[in-house]
Amino acid sequence: MASPPTSLILSLLISTVIVQILSDNLHEDRKVYIVYMGALPKTEYSPLWHHHSVLQQVLESSSVEDTLIRSYKRSFNGFAAKLTGKEQQKLAGMDGVVSVFLSRTLHLQTTRSWDFIGLKEAAERVPTVESDVIVGVLDTGIWPESDSFSDEGFGPPPEKWKGACNGGEDFKCNNKIIGARFYNSDEGTNVQISARDVDGHGTHTASTAAGNKVVGASFYGLARGNARGGVPSARIAVYKVCGKEGCSESDVLAGFDDAISDGVDILSVSLGQLWATDYITDTLAIGAFHSMLKGILTSNAAGNNGPYLGSVSNVAPWMLTVAASSTDRRIIDKVILGDGTNITGNAVNAFDMERNMLPLILGEDANDYCNNYDAQICTDGCPDPNFAQGKIVFCEEYSLGDGPLNAKASAVIMAEDIYSDFSFTYPLPASLLSVRNGERIKTYINSTKNPEAKILKSEELFYTNAPVVVSFSSRGPNIIVGDILKANLTAPGVEILAAWPPVASPSEFADDKRSVKYNIISGTSMSCPHATGAAAYVKTFHPDWSPSAIKSALMTTAFPMNATKNPDEEFAYGAGQIDPMKAVHPGLIYDAYEDDYVKLLCGIGYSTDQIRLVTGDNSSCPNDFSEAPKDLNYPSMASSGVRKANFTRTVTNVGPANSTYTATINSHPKMNVSVNPNVLSFKTLKEKQSFVVMVSAEELEEDLIVSASLVWSDGFNSVRSPIVMYQSANISEV
Ligand SMILES: *[C@@H]1O[C@H](CO)[C@@H](O)[C@H](O)[C@H]1NC(C)=O
Ligand SMILES: *[C@@H]1O[C@H](CO)[C@@H](O)[C@H](O)[C@H]1NC(C)=O
Ligand SMILES: *[C@@H]1O[C@H](CO)[C@@H](O)[C@H](O)[C@H]1NC(C)=O
Ligand SMILES: *[C@@H]1O[C@H](CO)[C@@H](O)[C@H](O)[C@H]1NC(C)=O
Ligand SMILES: *[C@@H]1O[C@H](CO)[C@@H](O)[C@H](O)[C@H]1NC(C)=O
Ligand SMILES: *[C@@H]1O[C@H](CO)[C@@H](O)[C@H](O)[C@H]1NC(C)=O
Ligand SMILES: *[C@@H]1O[C@H](CO)[C@@H](O)[C@H](O)[C@H]1NC(C)=O
Ligand SMILES: *[C@@H]1O[C@H](CO)[C@@H](O)[C@H](O)[C@H]1NC(C)=O
Ligand SMILES: *[C@@H]1O[C@H](CO)[C@@H](O)[C@H](O)[C@H]1NC(C)=O
Repeated sequence: MASPPTSLILSLLISTVIVQILSDNLHEDRKVYIVYMGALPKTEYSPLWHHHSVLQQVLESSSVEDTLIRSYKRSFNGFAAKLTGKEQQKLAGMDGVVSVFLSRTLHLQTTRSWDFIGLKEAAERVPTVESDVIVGVLDTGIWPESDSFSDEGFGPPPEKWKGACNGGEDFKCNNKIIGARFYNSDEGTNVQISARDVDGHGTHTASTAAGNKVVGASFYGLARGNARGGVPSARIAVYKVCGKEGCSESDVLAGFDDAISDGVDILSVSLGQLWATDYITDTLAIGAFHSMLKGILTSNAAGNNGPYLGSVSNVAPWMLTVAASSTDRRIIDKVILGDGTNITGNAVNAFDMERNMLPLILGEDANDYCNNYDAQICTDGCPDPNFAQGKIVFCEEYSLGDGPLNAKASAVIMAEDIYSDFSFTYPLPASLLSVRNGERIKTYINSTKNPEAKILKSEELFYTNAPVVVSFSSRGPNIIVGDILKANLTAPGVEILAAWPPVASPSEFADDKRSVKYNIISGTSMSCPHATGAAAYVKTFHPDWSPSAIKSALMTTAFPMNATKNPDEEFAYGAGQIDPMKAVHPGLIYDAYEDDYVKLLCGIGYSTDQIRLVTGDNSSCPNDFSEAPKDLNYPSMASSGVRKANFTRTVTNVGPANSTYTATINSHPKMNVSVNPNVLSFKTLKEKQSFVVMVSAEELEEDLIVSASLVWSDGFNSVRSPIVMYQSANISEV
């Protein structure tokens, strides 16, 4: 479990983002802080004036004009400013301030995937409603000229739209992309001139959620088919909050502030931090909370820090946190050795090496100045053109291909086991083999005078094991509130074909000059817009449903994943894989409103004063803090560190008025689960009924996690909830 591949994979999956830690000496010793002040007061109030005045009171050596970067005033209250440590501390103690935290840099985390999860091209749709759905995307911008965003056949924007097209230089909206904004943070050199996407990430995610149907899309013939989003008739509003150096939180919060007021219906946010943080100092949790208050659903990526337990970020209960899993199509390639052996590896390799065999050389023989380890793993700078030029270099670890590329090698073969369940796009012909197959390469090289090999163009395989949560997908448990199970759901995030800007390198290397309209990439960034699209699809049938009702529908109808193939079980996949068609008719829903989240916040220790600022109303904590996080009315039940727990839940009938549901428990041998009552009879639509689930588990010694499920069924609808018990003590050791 070496650490290098983790950081490598991150830097690749997060697109071209270079992780930038704000340098300490930037602007003397001032750093950008976010001052979060909760909801906007409902009384007459001038936020800008207030922000100036608050700032004025704490500034010691600078003017408001020089320090205030941004005011949040459309959807919630707060500002971003360059402060010294002392000023920051003073602010944190002031009335009306919920939290003050450093603005960090967040990371960006097909044809086949929608079919795989059952949302076929011919699926029943409500086109007039669908074209009124506005999907907001917070990302690296968009390539407006892509066929996926043509507005042919689209009427004018829906009347409810209050946004604007402020896309900047050389950027035109149309009736598909109805809004665009970009944010020019003053941090580092992250200067944007328009909402145009030159990285690729934002174009890819937007087209996955809501792109038009485009016939015959492919990446050099690979994954050929009709590219389309989950809701091809929906409109897109673009908020470019990320640039080459990542996404500064002060910009991300500005994107939320605008998107909520502009009137988007759903927000897709494929961004995350490397680890989970407290809700009131977590920009994404704050943005998602205020979205929820306005009835806007937010879909988030679980993160790409797997396969380690406790790696999930985006853990607030009002967020829909999406893990990434495979579809039944894998893309692989083959290495042929001079002795005729052929070995299957992982790479999206569109290069055609034709018939030529090329000399094959070990990384350690391709240089004479690096230490042995760096040479073996082909650390950039080690492979030397004097040895490597024109050859295939073998590297004993996962790499981005940069070392061999910069040494003018013709191709690279790598060996690594952790990330062997998906394929990357590389800037040169490449194949990632298992460690065992890597040994075969070494043996072969040692066995012959003139070792040679070639790498074939990639091919598609039918992957019978699917769906399986992929290695890089971040795992639970939730390290902030253990009783809230995360991730919630899984969706396709492996080798997804979607739109790409022709100016962006498909392998994210500037030296890779290939220009494509569609690219194949992997990440929870790719699964998140699948959940967004699915949620938008459900919303077209139920425009009045709350965000939590839609999420409940997606969770209780999810396709159960196979625990044998997914050893981290619910920590990896939550309720299972989204099934958008089924989610339209969930039968029953577990709904939660602001009050429920307020009780949750009280339960985990926030004060009434803090909560009132956040919600902007008279919310208060109940006198008895009996409401534990596990009692939030959500469609899954989790408890950590105890052997017995009761869960109280209320379901709302959204199916036939007269219906009777019976409970079925699929239990684990080490658990006893009972439900009281175990029959629920409904007479009317929207009728609510409550029940209690009583769970006891044996001492969990060998097992990290034991899980069961509860299914309510009326003979037509099955409403499934996972029930999970785990030992938190074991997790913290990981
Ligand atoms: C995600 O799941 C957790 C627990 O399973 C739940 O608390 C949370 O509300 C879910 N999120 C949404 C948005 O439904
Ligand atoms: C690779 O080996 C398999 C099994 O030996 C064989 O069927 C296949 O034709 C070979 N492929 C190539 C490209 O040589
Ligand atoms: C290479 O082969 C020689 C002799 O066949 C053997 O002694 C040596 O251990 C081998 N080296 C490696 C790295 O396999
Ligand atoms: C789960 O996967 C295992 C191993 O692949 C298989 O034997 C089993 O039949 C699968 N279970 C289900 C329900 O598909
Ligand atoms: C909050 O309570 C105060 C006093 O109890 C009352 O005047 C005010 O109208 C309430 N505000 C809201 C938003 O309910
Ligand atoms: C669960 O509820 C039952 C019935 O009210 C009660 O006997 C039991 O003690 C409760 N268990 C826990 C862990 O609270
Ligand atoms: C529900 O069923 C009862 C008895 O079968 C019937 O009297 C009643 O009209 C039904 N209600 C609705 C809303 O269909
Ligand atoms: C489950 O119930 C059975 C029968 O009542 C009992 O023998 C067993 O100890 C229980 N197991 C747990 C884990 O509570
Ligand atoms: C879980 O923790 C217990 C107590 O510390 C330990 O005995 C057990 O081996 C651990 N289990 C796992 C799977 O790590």
